[in-house]
Amino acid sequence: MSAYNIEDFRKVTTHRLSEMKQRGEKISMLTAYDYTMANILDLSGIDVILVGDSASNVMAGNITTLPMTLEHMIYHGASVMKGVKRALVIVDMPFGSYQGNSTLALASAIRIMKETGADCLKLEGGEEIIESVRRILSAGIPVMGHLGLTPQSINKFGTYNVRAREEEEAQKLIKDAHLLEEAGCFGLVLEKIPAVLGAQVTKELKIPVIGIGAGSEVDGQVLVAHDMLGLTGKEFSPRFLRRYADLSSAMTKAFEQYILDVKTGNFPDEREQY
Ligand code: KIV
Repeated sequence: MSAYNIEDFRKVTTHRLSEMKQRGEKISMLTAYDYTMANILDLSGIDVILVGDSASNVMAGNITTLPMTLEHMIYHGASVMKGVKRALVIVDMPFGSYQGNSTLALASAIRIMKETGADCLKLEGGEEIIESVRRILSAGIPVMGHLGLTPQSINKFGTYNVRAREEEEAQKLIKDAHLLEEAGCFGLVLEKIPAVLGAQVTKELKIPVIGIGAGSEVDGQVLVAHDMLGLTGKEFSPRFLRRYADLSSAMTKAFEQYILDVKTGNFPDEREQY
């Protein structure tokens, strides 16, 4: 597999994402929650790094994303920012920091921006949170929307199944997508929806649409880095997930060899001591 030749080393901005959509260049996006992963991703040439609240599952071992707090997201966001020079960094606003209260939403947004140095924020939902989106945008903070499967609403949905298969839900999603664009969002994530719906929304909107399980006709793709690296358990195998490595096996092998070397006195050897 040959690497994509990055020719433009300037900082990625929301404006540049819009230009990429206009010229039909696909946008690459992956998650990171810490300095080391963010630095490797940035040096690999990724366009966008998402400090996702999926840190709740991946980093903290929670079943849902709901336990994440502002402090957690600020910690992860600030760690990621230290490792990034080029990529656009988006931080997820955590559950409870913006829903149903636009004053709280603005205060939460300002804290994340001030304390992480991130470029922009992502919020889940459409019409229900539009007041919060508008308020945050009014402070000059770029916002990305997130529709379809929105994990912070898992208790309402009840399952992680594909969303918007039914006409009524698909129509609401299209309406919400336009609402977010009209409010001034710079981009939109569509999660786990039929590919035809992903294609339709992408065609109708001027802002870039990034898919995760939303088909190939969107403007870019996002995956959870730990999933595509094969670090997370194989029991999580949605159709949209392509595993590019089996790091879990590689790590297990390295750990087992280390344990053996320590137990047998093979580590450290003469060159590894003072
Ligand atoms: O939190 C996250 O990682 C996300 C992606 C799945 C889009 O929101």
